[in-house]
Amino acid sequence: MRGVFITFEGGDGAGKTTQMRLLAEVVRRGGVEPVVVREPGGTRTGESVREILLGPAHDDLTAVAELFLFAASRAQLTAEVIVPALESGRVVLCDRYADSTTAYQGYGRGLDLDLVRRVNEAATGGLVPDLTIVLDVDPRQGVAAASAGGADRMERQAIAFHERVRAGYAAIAAAEPKRVKVIERGPVDAVWREVSCVAAPVLAGAGVRIDEGER
Ligand code: TYD
Repeated sequence: MRGVFITFEGGDGAGKTTQMRLLAEVVRRGGVEPVVVREPGGTRTGESVREILLGPAHDDLTAVAELFLFAASRAQLTAEVIVPALESGRVVLCDRYADSTTAYQGYGRGLDLDLVRRVNEAATGGLVPDLTIVLDVDPRQGVAAASAGGADRMERQAIAFHERVRAGYAAIAAAEPKRVKVIERGPVDAVWREVSCVAAPVLAGAGVRIDEGER
């Protein structure tokens, strides 16, 4: 039996984490305990890599070093947590996955997109989410919201960088419209209605029902 793999993507401050929590709650109420993970991180190795990537001590990281560190965290998370969970039929919800690397390191940093694709392929072992929800936000709003409590290394990038990331997500969605659904940022309730609408059929395929009343 193969589980279900749903990822959340989007610019900084788009509200992914809130929506992912809401989805986890309804899956739980449907009687299934989801596996909830985030990137970078989610394993001991990944959390150490996260400190390098987002902490203040590594401002001089090159774009290629950054690419490989995100990939290292992903390779570990995929092998240690995601694949075993899917193999035992679990619902896996992941806050960011390979599309983040395409959007941030590919479009944002301007690294060669074919290199990024190959690195993603190696890190994921070819695993592709069943559904990817991109929450779209104007970087001027998103980055301000995300960095209210102190900006991390990525959030300190110029607005132009975050504009390229946004365009990257639009390109990813245009290339894979069946897997990738874009939802505009808005009030939590309105966004949730759309998230639950796109997630319901994918979860139903694995026998998890979202009650109409939950939407
Ligand atoms: P995080 O604090 O998890 O932010 P968010 O709530 O926005 O997910 O920080 C993750 C940051 O790392 C975020 O700015 C996006 C960036 N990132 C990449 O640049 N490439 C990647 O492959 C991933 C997974 C994240």
